[in-house]
Amino acid sequence: MKVMTKFIATALTATFALTLSVLADDTNAPASTTALPAASTKTGVTFATDIKPIFDAACVKCHDSTKPKQAAKLSLDTLEGVLNGDRDGAVVRPGDSAKSDLVLSVAHVGDPDTFMPKGKGAKKLTDDQIGLIRAWIDQGAK
Ligand code: HEC
Repeated sequence: MKVMTKFIATALTATFALTLSVLADDTNAPASTTALPAASTKTGVTFATDIKPIFDAACVKCHDSTKPKQAAKLSLDTLEGVLNGDRDGAVVRPGDSAKSDLVLSVAHVGDPDTFMPKGKGAKKLTDDQIGLIRAWIDQGAK
């Protein structure tokens, strides 16, 4: 019994160490654009038609311009709010989705504190949704 416990403990420790090294590798790597889902090939992508429904469903409960406070002072319910950015400045760079903080946040690239959406039961956006957000930004964030 003791041997078995020790074996399990060793196995767990090894798995944990491996997980840590993988995670550490990830955070040490420069924000790599290869980790981002590809931009959608859809043309004419707009905030009103394509993006607002995604943000309304996954983000606006915390980033709502109609509430007294928004997380990080960022509103995602209007195009103006998105373009105004957060307390630190722009979160989208029209024409360059791969360098837009909002894209890195939803693709879970970089600092885990910035991974979005946050909160209990939050589900990562799908690659298709992230691809659509990328296409929208690459096409000028209109
Ligand atoms: C449960 C609340 C909650 C939800 C839902 C949520 N956010 Fe956030 N968001 C936060 C908080 C809190 C911060 C500030 C994070 C910090 O200070 O580390 C933040 C910060 C951000 C930032 C700035 C991060 C940075 O790069 O510095 C972006 C961009 C963002 N959110 C986008 C989104 C998007 C897009 C969604 C939906 C897919 C979303 N958020 C959903 C709470 C939320």
